[in-house]
Amino acid sequence: MSKFKKNRLGPSISRGLRRRKDGKFAGAIAAADQYLLPTYKRPPVVFTHGRGAYVFDSTGKKYLDFLGGIAVNALGHAHPRIVRTIRRESAHAIHFSNLFHNKFQGPLARKLAEWSGLSRVFFANSGTEAIDGALKLARLCGRATAGSASSGNPKTRILALQNSFHGRTFGAVSVTATEKYRLPFAPLVPGVEFVAFNDIADLERKFDDTVCAVILETIQGEGGIYPVTEKFWARARSLATEHGALLIADEIQCGLGRTGRYFAYQKFSSKPDIAVVAKPLAAGLPLGAILTNETVASRVSPGVHGTTFGGGPMICAAALETLEIIEDLLENVRARGEELRAGLQKLQSEFDFIKEIRGEGCMFGVELSVEGGAFVAEALKQGLLINCTHDFTIRVLPPFLIGKAQVREFLNLFGNVLSQTPRVALATETSEKKVPSPVARSAASVSR
Ligand SMILES: Cc1ncc(COP(=O)(O)O)c(C=O)c1O
Repeated sequence: MSKFKKNRLGPSISRGLRRRKDGKFAGAIAAADQYLLPTYKRPPVVFTHGRGAYVFDSTGKKYLDFLGGIAVNALGHAHPRIVRTIRRESAHAIHFSNLFHNKFQGPLARKLAEWSGLSRVFFANSGTEAIDGALKLARLCGRATAGSASSGNPKTRILALQNSFHGRTFGAVSVTATEKYRLPFAPLVPGVEFVAFNDIADLERKFDDTVCAVILETIQGEGGIYPVTEKFWARARSLATEHGALLIADEIQCGLGRTGRYFAYQKFSSKPDIAVVAKPLAAGLPLGAILTNETVASRVSPGVHGTTFGGGPMICAAALETLEIIEDLLENVRARGEELRAGLQKLQSEFDFIKEIRGEGCMFGVELSVEGGAFVAEALKQGLLINCTHDFTIRVLPPFLIGKAQVREFLNLFGNVLSQTPRVALATETSEKKVPSPVARSAASVSR
């Protein structure tokens, strides 16, 4: 029986939530189909709750969640410490506004500073808002140092990487390379130029004193789990320093423990000037953050940037609790990551259409030589949540708290999916499409 009672929720709310005898929330799906903007193509499944690494739909079917709300649910679902924190703090206060201090914002900023080696924090509501804020800071710093640019030109250009994804708002989509996300909204923010992925010569060619920032995902997520190389990072760092520009690391998907390190960039020997985080930060509540060094922070004054919702007391309390839990999970992330890699490589030896396994910790891309959509649909049928990015890469983003048993369960399920996905679909897809390489995917587009 539905736990949603008509008299508690009111008639219009309960309409979509009433379950049919077969357990399907047909009203909820019909209302979504009729009233939502059609920005997503969703399967006819309604999820009702989750526990740990599992979610359940309205018919009671259980799914192993190796998508984690697209890298958000690092602690799985209904983590008791997060539930307790949200219950407790929501009864105290959800929002005061950034005009006042709250108990948790400062301590959360301190924790992020300790983790990152960067010293100041600004809280936003999402990844994309944090990226936009970081780009604004780059322009602000560029303006302040423009006089010293040897060319005498304004320091406003931003370099981003081909195959990047940084978000959907105007600033973030302007530094996102994928044309289907950009072109419908042109003209975008001017001054952005794309550098071939991991191509040091191209970076050097495009860098000069007019550049105010280079922005990159330390490991490209949406692009198919592609890490920047140590050499590329080091050169981006040295060129940014040489030309008085900022190195911005987008760690929204790969940061906050996903690699088994606090930040993915911590495998390199230098730091960015700005790191941007979001997704898992508040265990599913919407929170992003811009972390900056002291030089960037010194350009900021009251009123120059702001937001209404970012960093409220309840959400910051949940984030603080999340980070404390993640601190104890880093070793688990590394160990499970090794098991996942070994298991995926074994599958690669069994299925010739697996081209490459990329990633580490709780972030893997399984690149196929055939389209991945049919495998995702079959996985859903078999009770496994994964997704496919850039048509050919199956993305695996499990919660950090998975155990050995869940890794084994995943590898079994995924093996079944790989062998049982209808061959007809594969044959048609293979003959029609060729796997594009990450560099070929996004031709260098300039929006000066
Ligand atoms: C690397 C990266 N940057 C930025 C974003 C945008 O974050 P949000 O969806 O919270 O706006 C995403 C989201 O997928 C991402 O993966």
